[in-house]
Amino acid sequence: MAGIIEKIPMLRAGSKKDRGSKTSSSITLRVYRSNSANGNSYRYDTFDVPIQRWTTVLDALLYAKAYEDNSIAIRYSCRMASCGSCGMKINGRPRLACYTNVAELESPVITCQPLTNFSLIRDLVTDFSEFFRHHKSIKPFIINQNADLMTSEEVSEFIQSPRDVDEYLQFSYCIKCGLCYSACPTVATDVRFLGPQALAQAYRYYADTRDNGSREDMKNIDDKHGIWRCHFAGSCSNVCPKGVDPALGIQLLRRHLTSFSKHDKKIAEMKHHSQVT
Ligand code: SF4
Ligand code: FES
Repeated sequence: MAGIIEKIPMLRAGSKKDRGSKTSSSITLRVYRSNSANGNSYRYDTFDVPIQRWTTVLDALLYAKAYEDNSIAIRYSCRMASCGSCGMKINGRPRLACYTNVAELESPVITCQPLTNFSLIRDLVTDFSEFFRHHKSIKPFIINQNADLMTSEEVSEFIQSPRDVDEYLQFSYCIKCGLCYSACPTVATDVRFLGPQALAQAYRYYADTRDNGSREDMKNIDDKHGIWRCHFAGSCSNVCPKGVDPALGIQLLRRHLTSFSKHDKKIAEMKHHSQVT
């Protein structure tokens, strides 16, 4: 651990030995502590953490873990908003800890809690099994029989124009961090709802011209727990750290689905009925 810590400039500058000499200020870090094995019992532990201009919430948590209490459970990897593993609620809002600068919060007290809408494993670490099950259920990959090199006699390029790419590009930036899923009020009330991330990814593959595997047979999307359950609260898009707009993806997917869904048939039947009578 000591070797790792020495490689982290913020922690080196703010080590206990240096505290008060090299750091300009400090914050109070409140960390949610609980273990799923303990049922509903939880507490908040408080740590005084020295900060620099560039200190992120993840840096602050790692400082507390390194010098105050090494039993704090945190999940992280890339430290650069790419892997999506450090999601947590920071001062009440779902954020990436590595992408949140302490200074931007403008608060002397920073409270870290596990993401809501996920079951808890321990402290700030939540279980993403259900989230990834939803993600997997929409078949998040390009379906195109002609792209299979093993079976296709003629292999050709899949040319896309810049406009074709623009149709889905922003949705491909998703890092599966789960912040949108955590912020979604519909997920909070319906555990079977696919959630904004999976639905936006479904649109991402619908909109990709390389994909010819129509997903209309996917009952879980065209379902009351699927795309039609969204109330368009928009909180998913507000918290996304990668500039994805899942709420937009859901609306575009709805437009697409109504071309063949049972709901569209119902509308057509109603129109027909009103013309006849
Ligand atoms: S859409 Fe945004 S908030 Fe949701 S999982 Fe993807 S990157 Fe995270
Ligand atoms: S550590 Fe990878 S996104 Fe934060």
